[in-house]
Amino acid sequence: MSAKPGRLLPLLTTHRTGRSPVTCEYRCGNQCSHPAPNTSDNEYFGDVVRSVMSRRGALRAGGVMAATAAGFAAMSGTAAAEVPALAANPGRGNGRQGGRSVPGTDFEPVAPNSRDAVTVPEGYEQQVVIRWGDPVVPGAPAFDVNGQTAAAQAKQFGYNNDFVGLIPQDGSGQRNFLVVNHEYTTETEMFPEGSYDEANPTEEQVRIAWAAHGLSVVQADRTRDGGLEVKPSRYNRRITLDTEFEVRGPVAGSDLLKTSADPTGTIVHGTQNNCAGGVTPWGTVLSGEENFHQYFAHGERVTDPVQAERLDRYGLAGGETTRKWERFDKRWDISQEPNEVHRFGWVVEIDPNDPNAKPIKHTALGRFKHEAANVKIARDGRVVVYSGDDERFDYIYKFVSNGRYKPGRSAHARRHNMALLDEGTLYVAKFTGNSPAEEIDGSGTLPSDGEFDGTGEWIALASGDKSFVDGFTAEEVYVFTRLAADKVGATKMDRPEDIEPNPVTGRIYAALTNNSDRGAAGKAGADEPNPRNGNKNGHVLEWDEDGTETKFRWRLLLVCGDPDAADTYFGGFDKSQVSPISCPDNVAFDGYGNLWISTDGNALGSNDGLFSVPVTGPNRGQVKQFLTVPVGAETCGPVVRDDLVLVAVQHPGEGGEPGSSWPDGGHARPAIVAVRKSDGGRIGA
Ligand code: FEO
Ligand code: CA
Ligand code: CA
Repeated sequence: MSAKPGRLLPLLTTHRTGRSPVTCEYRCGNQCSHPAPNTSDNEYFGDVVRSVMSRRGALRAGGVMAATAAGFAAMSGTAAAEVPALAANPGRGNGRQGGRSVPGTDFEPVAPNSRDAVTVPEGYEQQVVIRWGDPVVPGAPAFDVNGQTAAAQAKQFGYNNDFVGLIPQDGSGQRNFLVVNHEYTTETEMFPEGSYDEANPTEEQVRIAWAAHGLSVVQADRTRDGGLEVKPSRYNRRITLDTEFEVRGPVAGSDLLKTSADPTGTIVHGTQNNCAGGVTPWGTVLSGEENFHQYFAHGERVTDPVQAERLDRYGLAGGETTRKWERFDKRWDISQEPNEVHRFGWVVEIDPNDPNAKPIKHTALGRFKHEAANVKIARDGRVVVYSGDDERFDYIYKFVSNGRYKPGRSAHARRHNMALLDEGTLYVAKFTGNSPAEEIDGSGTLPSDGEFDGTGEWIALASGDKSFVDGFTAEEVYVFTRLAADKVGATKMDRPEDIEPNPVTGRIYAALTNNSDRGAAGKAGADEPNPRNGNKNGHVLEWDEDGTETKFRWRLLLVCGDPDAADTYFGGFDKSQVSPISCPDNVAFDGYGNLWISTDGNALGSNDGLFSVPVTGPNRGQVKQFLTVPVGAETCGPVVRDDLVLVAVQHPGEGGEPGSSWPDGGHARPAIVAVRKSDGGRIGA
């Protein structure tokens, strides 16, 4: 592909999700109204079967199934029968329990609504824990929306909170670190009306935005009445676009990461567009740098075809950026600092236990639009990290460490475990359906075996300095991971977002938010893991593995949307007994192993929300809405403790008319909300 001025510019301002155009522009650089950057023709096996089918439309289904099985064996070098069986039958929901709910999900569901409020079930109470502009570090001034400065913002809670980690400091859970990331800024919403000129932001406004990105760490202790309160503490910390990060892993010091400000290629200032994340078993936070592409200007000036192809694959548009940061620091201008863009798109790690610890960028986990990084400890002690690449037709990845986990939360154990993420193998996922391709027609109709399910394979991309991808050095695999994954035939997914192992069953869950381009002209059509064309409502995928194996079996738990619509599936549960759910985004688990899902961009006309769903037993698939967030907001970062639920309310009212005045009246402010039962009891019990 050659570099051409203006490539990947928006077609027109069509916004294909439930989000406002302002959210689309500032959060992800309008990526849904650009052509999807994955233009690879990495025909994988589902496509092979489909093209065989279209050539021989009269083939009987039995013949196709035989071809499928033979093809799988040929491709994987092993018989399909050798793929490990699912660990346990999760049960098919049958609704037999009628109105009863399983422990953890026994509450009266909240009805869909479009209120400018957080709405919780009857018998529950809510409180705002911390909001944009609240003090974090000593000396932080009180928030003044009319007099904001970069110096003040660098000491205050940042904008657009997304991931939330609540990390106990002791066995009682009374004292905690609350770690929150600040995904992006929306200058047109942050600054008082009439004070921000999108075409000509002031330097101070740009510096405020740099300080409003990053993460916040605060001490957060339980209150007598069961709530959560932020306390002054030596641990309280702001991480902004000025904070130094240490680059670790296989490309630390690589020429691809060297800039004029950092000739060592090992020190990066800041992190940006941090989206889904995870708390590690060793008490740190991993956070994914997602839509980093939108901060870099003038990719169109790059004429080298290899570099241009790399920029295209990461969705870097030409021209000025929306925020115009390149006018105030040349690192945001690709034509002046071509490698700065390679220093974003990583998983970062923050250690809240040590306020002086330098945050880390982990290059062994690859570079893409990272969503999440959740850890599973395999039976042999190796550390497995799952991550999604949130773009239409992009992939699901995992990393498996070489070394083994050291239990405990001591400084020594933390150092050991953080170093595990420096050395290991990076894999990308390929999913194959087990139903005849003709039965996956893009309508969402279940195939005759009753499930969207099949087998999967992890394809190794690189390990240390060894590349497994033809034509790529290991360094290139890590920095241009998307291109390497194209080459090995990874499965194009419908926007993989949060991925997390269930701590009770060990099964892995991935939210696939939506993909309205599935099946569009020239785009990949429906397949069994992504079974609907024009997928507006998303789905939830589960698979079984200890973590270190390369074969697994998967199935869809939910095919989301209006339960009255024929194209939805709720784990087999009675669809007259579930809440509508659309655009699953972040996932979490309660102590019983129930899955909790927050949504982003509800395409059914209601506000976004948080939902619970049992994943085993007769109530498997019984989705219930626990809360809704204010109008225009996205529900992020759920944390579900036995007696406390936390959500991040991101971008309340953004781009809407009249917008939002949540939470305090007046100027809307993104904030963290705690919900507890009024009687102090267990959530959902
Ligand atoms: Fe930041 Fe993929 O949502
Ligand atoms: Ca099937
Ligand atoms: Ca999100």
